[in-house]
Amino acid sequence: MDTNTSSPAGILDLIEAFRRSKTMFAAVELGIFDGRRPEGYKELERLLEACVSLGLLEREGEGFRNSAAAEKYLRSDSPDTLAGYVKYSNHVLYPMWGHLEDAVREGTPRWGQTFGLAGPLFSHFFRDEAAMKEFLAGMHGFGRLSSAAVAAAFDLSRFRKMVDLGGGTGHLAEAVKERYPAMETLVFDLPGVAAAYPGVVAGDFFVDPLPEADLYAMGRILHDWGEEKIGRLLAKVHAALPAGGGLLIAEKLMEEDRSGPVGTHMQSLNMLVCTEGRERTLGEYRALLEEAGFREVQGKRTGTLVDAVVGFK
Ligand SMILES: C[S@@+](CC[C@H](N)C(=O)[O-])C[C@H]1O[C@@H](n2cnc3c(N)ncnc32)[C@H](O)[C@@H]1O
Repeated sequence: MDTNTSSPAGILDLIEAFRRSKTMFAAVELGIFDGRRPEGYKELERLLEACVSLGLLEREGEGFRNSAAAEKYLRSDSPDTLAGYVKYSNHVLYPMWGHLEDAVREGTPRWGQTFGLAGPLFSHFFRDEAAMKEFLAGMHGFGRLSSAAVAAAFDLSRFRKMVDLGGGTGHLAEAVKERYPAMETLVFDLPGVAAAYPGVVAGDFFVDPLPEADLYAMGRILHDWGEEKIGRLLAKVHAALPAGGGLLIAEKLMEEDRSGPVGTHMQSLNMLVCTEGRERTLGEYRALLEEAGFREVQGKRTGTLVDAVVGFK
């Protein structure tokens, strides 16, 4: 946003931005992009017209059809759907962000204030089976937009077996397998996730021994946690690796001077309202990895939603 002019355009845009988001959230929630037109909704037409103005629907005779983008990313049965992340945003992030000022003041997530939830972090994300599946579907949709680029960011051809710690639905493991078919891949995640997704190995990476590997991956894991827990986790991963082993990290990278990107700052505030973590610069990741014993730490911007960092033992 250019704030060096006296034009109010940027400010007006930001005043309106949440209305555009919520319009899309409501339309996804009502199944509009799956072709549903719920009966008896007095102002459905007004919502549909607003979706046309946002480029999500197009007029077709007396009715409406999905735009190409909505067909690919908002239809719930599309393989590329982001509907899971939209629903998670609508049910969880939207109300949690309502308390951003308090999160900034207190430096803590908003689960208690918003939903009356206390206890460990992922017990909130996974408060019931439906919430867990919605969250992981959201991660999956977002992950599919970036995992191929993360898998391609560095030459991983020398590794034999990759274990994706907190790998969720396994989209990163799939992308790595596709690029390196000879590599064995395994996804390790909490027992609830393992029960819901066949093939995922159950465990807690803070508590349990890590499955043997010469390459560990962690996608959008470190940004969930504070420095102390990250230090413990990285030391554990380092200890589990053989000499020459590697760690591949998928995270958004903040500019070193913290001037952007905007999306990374927004994600860092998002981490504030719902986790113990933050988004970091490559320099900060390098310091954390080196502290745990990793060397030759490199980062690469992928041009997708997450970037890639690698370090070696
Ligand atoms: C933000 S999600 C990222 C999922 C996946 N890596 C991705 O990029 O889509 C964090 C993941 O870490 C997992 N997780 C959280 N705490 C964990 C723990 N203590 N042990 C193992 N997995 C954990 C969650 O179940 C979830 O799948």
